[in-house]
Amino acid sequence: MIILAIDTSCDETSAAVTKGQMVIANVVYSQVLVHQKWGGVVPSLAKRGHEERIDWVIDSTLKKAKITKKDLDYVAVTYGPGLAIALEVGINKAKEIASEFDKKLIAVNHMEGHLYSSFVQNSRGNPKRDWQFPYLGLLVSGGHTELVLFSSHVEYQILGETRDDAAGEALDKAARMLGFGYPGGPVIEKLAKEAQNVDQYHFPRPMVKINNLEFSFSGLKTSFLYYLQKLSDQEKIKNLRFLASSYQEAVFDTLVYKTNQAIKKTGVKRMLMGGGVAVNARLRQKVRALVRTSGGSIYFPPFSYLNFDNAAMIGVAAYYRAKIGLIVQSADEFDRVPRLSLLQSTKN
Ligand code: KG4
Ligand code: ZN
Repeated sequence: MIILAIDTSCDETSAAVTKGQMVIANVVYSQVLVHQKWGGVVPSLAKRGHEERIDWVIDSTLKKAKITKKDLDYVAVTYGPGLAIALEVGINKAKEIASEFDKKLIAVNHMEGHLYSSFVQNSRGNPKRDWQFPYLGLLVSGGHTELVLFSSHVEYQILGETRDDAAGEALDKAARMLGFGYPGGPVIEKLAKEAQNVDQYHFPRPMVKINNLEFSFSGLKTSFLYYLQKLSDQEKIKNLRFLASSYQEAVFDTLVYKTNQAIKKTGVKRMLMGGGVAVNARLRQKVRALVRTSGGSIYFPPFSYLNFDNAAMIGVAAYYRAKIGLIVQSADEFDRVPRLSLLQSTKN
């Protein structure tokens, strides 16, 4: 089953050609430089960026895969969650191709793509990972922080999510307070590593005393801001690494704590991680340690690009949807759903 997948949910214009779990070609055009000077993603600029690049991205992907649009079985596209006007660009393009070449559409939830990202294979079919449902998924990106029970293909249950900022957003905002640009996650990781990931300041671990699987990072962000306000510029610069490191530890300890609660609550010990923050080596180390003590196992996306927004994961998720007949019935009525939840995408 040859699928052309498209994702324009945020600030990456991406297209992929997939065959089952294998990626034949994947092209990502990142707009990060466009948004960097604004300190975050600007929706109108994202839309324009997608419009300018989408044809080029799709054509390059097909060329790399050495196929034409006629060879496709389906066209898959992310229809949420994401920025409305950005999603629209991908959906319109998918509809256009589907109509011109008489192909069926598959509507994919961006977060389901992140869940499937650990099973994406390269064009040689590697890595070979067996499915052993159920999985506990920890999805951590710039827009989302979710603990998900992935019980079988296209079957999800949200165990907990963030009430306010996502983990990536919390890192981005802290980096900005320290004087760095967007995205902040990689900067925080680098500074923290230079401080050997020490927790010098003991910032609060939000929500850990509350017996549920929800997250909230806005209180932590505020306590970080108040702490910074007490420091002189000189003190701030001198302690930059320790501030970044302590903050990162607070965010990650919270993620690990709630993940542990989820393992205890569900008894599911096989974990998956996805989303931009999942690339972070310190977080991986902490989650691996948790999995080790609970006797479980974990898969991370096998190739670095799969942590970030990409269409390859959308194509693979689409394959499993198509296999059970979950295709778009009416292209005319098919529209973006910016606040789409995984619950709306589950097969039952
Ligand atoms: O999945 P993603 O590319 O886009 C969304 O769907 O949001 O995730 C972007 C997020 C940003 O918040 C960025 O700061 C964070 O991932 N990120 C990182 C790292 N690289 C990117 N967070 C922590 N450590 C990193 N190395
Ligand atoms: Zn994403």
